[in-house]
Amino acid sequence: MSAIVITGAGSGLGRALALQYSNSFNEIILIGRNQERLQQTKDILLQSQELEVFTYTVNIQNQHEVETLCTSLFTKHDAAALINNAGVGHFGPVTSLSAEEISEMLDTNVKGTIFLTQAFIKEFTKKGTGKILNIISTAGLRGKVNESVYVASKFAVRGFTESLVKELDGTDISIAGAYMGGMDTPFWDNNEHIKDKTRLKSPAVIAEKIYRLDDGRTEIIAE
Ligand SMILES: NC(=O)c1ccc[n+]([C@@H]2O[C@H](COP(=O)([O-])OP(=O)(O)OC[C@H]3O[C@@H](n4cnc5c(N)ncnc54)[C@H](OP(=O)(O)O)[C@@H]3O)[C@@H](O)[C@H]2O)c1
Repeated sequence: MSAIVITGAGSGLGRALALQYSNSFNEIILIGRNQERLQQTKDILLQSQELEVFTYTVNIQNQHEVETLCTSLFTKHDAAALINNAGVGHFGPVTSLSAEEISEMLDTNVKGTIFLTQAFIKEFTKKGTGKILNIISTAGLRGKVNESVYVASKFAVRGFTESLVKELDGTDISIAGAYMGGMDTPFWDNNEHIKDKTRLKSPAVIAEKIYRLDDGRTEIIAE
């Protein structure tokens, strides 16, 4: 059975991607820090499908935790794909952002994605094959008012992804970036940046579009 690993799978887009990709994988591995939310995603997946679903709690900011998880995952599962979806955002004028908020965005969105990608590429190289999808954002395509550091973090992930597309060229390990606009998820619960979430797309619609366009291209635009 081949498995897909999805970070940030306890809510929002990660949960919706888990549901979508269960059409192609019969083993789904859900990663996040909150076990209760991961279990909720697992329960939803098991309601409708014949699947094996596993949950692992990891803080992706911690390289040691990520590497330990990765070694254990590849011992227990035939992991064929990784979706780096976990991410955080803090918004407002650049002068309003605290050091903690800046660090949380860079440590999660940038370093977390790099740690996981690095660990998985090591294992995929041993197997000779593997697939990575980085969930970025339209914030990785253009600057936005009151989103400066979040945008900086997503431009970083875009640069990282585009470089690895070139670095992995000629191997059977593929990497792609997905760029989507605003979605109605818990992402916006702890800030006032989006006043009316109801005008945003649902994560299910975006997950379906990503899944449909995930055909080997290196850039998935799902606005
Ligand atoms: N919502 C939007 O409008 C929007 C638009 C474009 C792109 N995106 C991107 O889409 C991705 C998913 O966001 P979402 O909208 O679905 O928001 P969300 O519901 O808040 O999901 C983010 C997930 O990331 C996980 N996470 C955060 N920090 C983590 C850490 N240190 N270690 C492990 N997991 C961590 C959270 O789980 P735990 O708290 O359990 O760890 C959570 O499940 C993010 O990369 C975001 O930047 C969102």
